Order: sequence, then C-alpha cells, then structure tokens
Amino acid sequence: MAIRTLTPAVAALAADVSTAVRSDAPAIDVARHVASALAPALVVPDLLDSEHKCGRTESYTQHILYVDPESRFSIVSLVWMPGQRTVIHDHVSWCVVGVYQGAEEETLYRLVDDGREPAYLVRTGHAVNARGQTSFFAPPGDIHEVCNSSDDAVISIHVYGADVSVLGSSVRRRYDLPVRAA
Ligand SMILES: [Fe+2]
Repeated sequence: MAIRTLTPAVAALAADVSTAVRSDAPAIDVARHVASALAPALVVPDLLDSEHKCGRTESYTQHILYVDPESRFSIVSLVWMPGQRTVIHDHVSWCVVGVYQGAEEETLYRLVDDGREPAYLVRTGHAVNARGQTSFFAPPGDIHEVCNSSDDAVISIHVYGADVSVLGSSVRRRYDLPVRAA
C-alpha cells in the first residue's frame, strides 16, 4: 500500500519521516527523530484535508494519510470527540504522537507481572499535550492510554513504525488489568 491522500504538507512530512527512519539507530532514537520531523507539521494550517478531520460519535476515528511504499512507517490522523479514549494498550513498533488540534491526554503505565500475584498496572506518567506538542514511545515499556477529556474535538497525528494498511492498527495488546497506586 502506498500513498492514500497527500496534501503538500503531508508529502513534506512523509519525506522528512522517511529520512528520519533511514537509520540503524535503536527504535527509541528513531522515534525521537520522527518526533522532531513531525513537530513543524503540527502548526501547518492546511496539513489535513477536511475528510481527514472528520470524527464519529461511536469511537475515535483513524484516517490513514500515508503508508511508506516499503512499509517502514505509516502516518494517520486520529479524531477524538469529547470523552473518546483508547483502551490501555501497547504497540508492535515505535510510535510518535503529535497534537494538531485541541489537547490530548496521555497516561503511561508499567506492567507488574512477577507471577507472585495476578498481574496489574502501575500508573507511571500523565500529560496533557497541547497543539504542537509531541511524545514518542518504543516497545517494550510503551503501555499507555490516550483520551480526549476536553469539551472540544481533538485531532492528533500518529506515526507508527509499521504498515497499518496491512495490520489495521499497530496495537500489539490491550491491557484489561487493575491499576494500582505506585
Ligand atoms: Fe497508542
């Protein structure tokens, strides 16, 4: 799968990300470079076509913007109506998130599964990222949850080191586990 829809700004972003992933660096460093490439695009007014800013009432919406012809990465827009959230999950690859509109809430977790008692999660971080801000993860240790806790629609751009047009999503696993205090 190659290009779906390409505004000039997405084309420029895809070229920058392509350069950033052309590296043998550890995944977390690749993700850091991709985050640097993504940040300038987040303040481009015409980054997205109107169809890629549309949300749904049922759940948050993923629009595939671009898939690298060599399947090294995918760029998607995610549209979050008020109250919409992911499950707690991790990814099969590195993942970079940038906020394009509104403010997105992100919570990080650590899995405790030492065999002595039923597995559980510990909350390890929390942030509310505003327009233009980025964050990035690489497995292992990338368990997180994203939500729109505001009263307005939120749009974020996510870049994954995987081909989501084949996988459907880059989610590796969901974690339906109790959350305990650290
Ligand atoms: Fe995620």
